[in-house]
Amino acid sequence: MKALVTGASKGIGQALVRELVAAGHQVWGVARTEGLLSELALELGSQFKYIAVDLIADTGVTAVLQALDAADFYPSEVFLVAGVYSSDDETFSTPNHQQLMMDCNFMAPVKLYDALMQRQHPPKHVVAVSSIFALLPDPLNPAYALAKTQLAQYFIQANGKGGIRTKVVYLGPVNTAINKHAKRRKSLMAIEPIQVAQFLHGLPKKSGVSHIYPFSAGITYQILRYLPESVYTALMNKARR
Ligand SMILES: NC(=O)c1ccc[n+]([C@@H]2O[C@H](COP(=O)([O-])OP(=O)(O)OC[C@H]3O[C@@H](n4cnc5c(N)ncnc54)[C@H](OP(=O)(O)O)[C@@H]3O)[C@@H](O)[C@H]2O)c1
Repeated sequence: MKALVTGASKGIGQALVRELVAAGHQVWGVARTEGLLSELALELGSQFKYIAVDLIADTGVTAVLQALDAADFYPSEVFLVAGVYSSDDETFSTPNHQQLMMDCNFMAPVKLYDALMQRQHPPKHVVAVSSIFALLPDPLNPAYALAKTQLAQYFIQANGKGGIRTKVVYLGPVNTAINKHAKRRKSLMAIEPIQVAQFLHGLPKKSGVSHIYPFSAGITYQILRYLPESVYTALMNKARR
């Protein structure tokens, strides 16, 4: 199997690359940080190739397609993992922050998907990584929640178009750098990237278009959604800061 993974330089995407390569797949990774990608390539050998590119740059998606075309690489599975939660803006509310949330968490994966659809051999499965905050917005960062909601909606509706199966996963908290605004770097509530990687690896074979992972996040969501807004906001602020 050939796979394309965005967000391959760290966190969930990096764990997924390792998982797929260990299972014998050929993988191309996409992220901005050349150094981290080249370290991963050194570790994984010839089964892993990468392109270091900023997916929100004007030429980002085109550069990915050019690299794949040059290598004659047609992935059957695509995992749209790259995303951002924070920016330099600590209030999470400036127009620049909101633009970044939308560009990286919604526009870039959609543009890449559209471009892959136009190829001679489009992928068979596309997995988009959303967040539990798309179902129950994080009051600290509404722009992230909105972007992840748009992403989920887009890929739920895209399922079956052009014969391509799309899937969306609403992820609960995971112990990665994206959680740097949490009080503790590692949270007991959060699962490890390797667990998510194993789940994502098996996802194309599962039925159903949208999934909540882990199961505990689904339960927590069901409880939290019935709390009064003021209690939910107070709880979330405590959890995130
Ligand atoms: N961790 C959680 O608790 C959690 C919960 C729900 C959903 N998620 C989602 O899971 C996904 C992965 O997050 P993570 O926790 O693994 O975070 P992470 O460790 O910060 O990894 C994010 C990845 O996205 C890449 N990326 C960011 N901006 C990019 C850009 N403009 N162009 C190309 N690549 C870019 C980063 O690479 P470079 O910096 O090298 O570009 C990195 O590889 C995200 O979509 C996130 O929203 C995470």
